[in-house]
Amino acid sequence: MFRSSQHKYPPFKLFVEQLELKQYRNLQPLHLTFSDGLHFFIGPNAQGKTNLLESLYVVAIGKSHRTRSHKELIQFGQSMARIRLVVKRRGESDRIEVMISQKGKKISKNGIEQRRLSQYIGTLPTIMFAPEDLELVKGGPSVRRKFLNMEIGQVSPHYLSDLSTYNQLIQQRNHLLKQAPSSKPYQTELLDVLDDQIVPIAGRIWKKRIGFLKDLNRWSSDIHQQISQQKEVLHLHYQSSIPLQTDMKEEEIQELFRQEIKRVRKKEVSQRVTLLGPHRDDIRVKLGEIDVSTFGSQGQQRTAALSLKLAEIDYIYQKMGVYPILLLDDVLSELDDFRKNYLFRALQGRVQTFVTATGLDGIDSEWVRKSKVYRIKQGTITEQG
Ligand SMILES: Nc1ncnc2c1ncn2[C@@H]1O[C@H](COP(=O)(O)OP(=O)(O)OP(=O)(O)O)[C@@H](O)[C@H]1O
Ligand SMILES: [Mg+2]
Repeated sequence: MFRSSQHKYPPFKLFVEQLELKQYRNLQPLHLTFSDGLHFFIGPNAQGKTNLLESLYVVAIGKSHRTRSHKELIQFGQSMARIRLVVKRRGESDRIEVMISQKGKKISKNGIEQRRLSQYIGTLPTIMFAPEDLELVKGGPSVRRKFLNMEIGQVSPHYLSDLSTYNQLIQQRNHLLKQAPSSKPYQTELLDVLDDQIVPIAGRIWKKRIGFLKDLNRWSSDIHQQISQQKEVLHLHYQSSIPLQTDMKEEEIQELFRQEIKRVRKKEVSQRVTLLGPHRDDIRVKLGEIDVSTFGSQGQQRTAALSLKLAEIDYIYQKMGVYPILLLDDVLSELDDFRKNYLFRALQGRVQTFVTATGLDGIDSEWVRKSKVYRIKQGTITEQG
């Protein structure tokens, strides 16, 4: 992991230097100053640990990982919440503010309102790993598609805008297929018009996804080998609704898609739904010949999910020239000592990391010594001296 000599860029640092919260969830107003290293937030259940990580995630991604509703982020009984960050990147500072009101949220960067999320995303590249990420391996295809879209989206605003156009077009297409009785000539013409718009966008989305998966496969299998102490070989395979080959050019993908659409047109008209496209794809996660999603043990699934998440760090670094920050919510207790130590060793000196846990038991004192430790009690955070 992190073989920096093979990267295009030297390991530039990116980190959150300051965090200020006001009326955010159950947290008392706070202003914290962080280092570029490891941070532990320790406290019993229901004190505000996840809320704290969530506030960083909201700044990074523009929305919570737990809810679609901005209003839930505002402290009960209040009318607004505010998050402010100072992010250091290659020695420069960005001041970011997220204001959340009943009407919605407003993000500004260095005093300038960020109206288009696609342009703002990437300001604070972030990876979150939480117990629910087990779903990445265990859950249905939509979880893995969301993962693909989120991660590629963080490094490519074009991908995000393509995806949003694509989804709208597919909605229109499905609407058309549902509405009209089959075999009406106008329906065929309208479908052709939509397909002419969909094909190039789908081609770009597929090309990006295949490239992403190729990189991720390489890195995650390296990492997995190390975490599993050479016992297991992890392999990711992009499972597409059309027979894609990993080395296809964008035009070849588009051509293939055109042919496939023609081939299934009758079936789509009779089933009244779009059958092919990036929105129907999946990733298979395998250990050797075994499909981890179906046959993996809980521990194997968890380790595979961790390998995927850690591989993203390399991906972001390669694409953006900076390491993302890492939010680890409540995952340490699930990892054995070897995995815990591997994790901290791999992150050391490169990735600013925020870890929540109910206690420090089982964490090597070496790591605790090198980190900042905070206690959280009923929404109040205090740094441990
Ligand atoms: N908008 C809100 N205003 C005030 N309190 C809230 C709001 N939303 C959630 N809470 C409360 O915040 C508390 C802390 O939640 P959080 O998820 O951060 O706990 P946690 O420390 O991560 O606990 P656990 O160890 O169980 O994961 C919860 O008791 C919840 O009821
Ligand atoms: Mg929690």
